[in-house]
Amino acid sequence: MDAVEKAIRQRRSVRKYRPDMPDAEDVRRILAAGTWAPSGLNNQPWKFMLVKGKQHKDRLAEFTKYSKIIENAPLAICVFLDKGAAYNREKDIMAVGACVQNILLFAHKLGYGTCWLGEILNRKEQVQKFLKSDSDYELMAVITMGYPAERASKGRRKTLKHFILK
Ligand SMILES: Cc1cc2nc3c(=O)[nH]c(=O)nc-3n(C[C@H](O)[C@H](O)[C@H](O)COP(=O)(O)O)c2cc1C
Repeated sequence: MDAVEKAIRQRRSVRKYRPDMPDAEDVRRILAAGTWAPSGLNNQPWKFMLVKGKQHKDRLAEFTKYSKIIENAPLAICVFLDKGAAYNREKDIMAVGACVQNILLFAHKLGYGTCWLGEILNRKEQVQKFLKSDSDYELMAVITMGYPAERASKGRRKTLKHFILK
């Protein structure tokens, strides 16, 4: 299998992590991979905020029913839409999604597990208040990251046929 195909196929959401912090240079490379995502007009409408440390993470975790995942992860990456850079909401949000996927795939390639958390957006305003993030930035996702402490699930997908319109 080709390396890219392998990463795409074998990446699974990981929800249990070892306590050790990911290497800082790896984190930098992973975020840089995020920034190489395509975006409309190449406007690169994303911002990242790292949340680490038990106290800070445990408080972030309070904003989602998936609190255990954040509590358990050594690192949470908050991904924002940069509204100042934005030009078309649909396209900009899709670009941020592509950025998140790059992060997940490259983190997987480097041996880390990640989980894309969306449920926390139900309390987006409260999260942003807690993070003291600029009102120009809108939370799009939280990604938990760390060395996996569980075997990756097999993963399930519908057959390709299901998705192809005639
Ligand atoms: C937009 C989005 C939001 C998600 N939100 C959550 C979440 O809040 N909690 C969670 O445990 N997983 C969340 N996931 C992960 C999905 O459950 C997971 O990607 C899906 O079940 C497929 O499994 P896989 O990632 O292992 O292939 C989210 C994924 C996406 C793309």
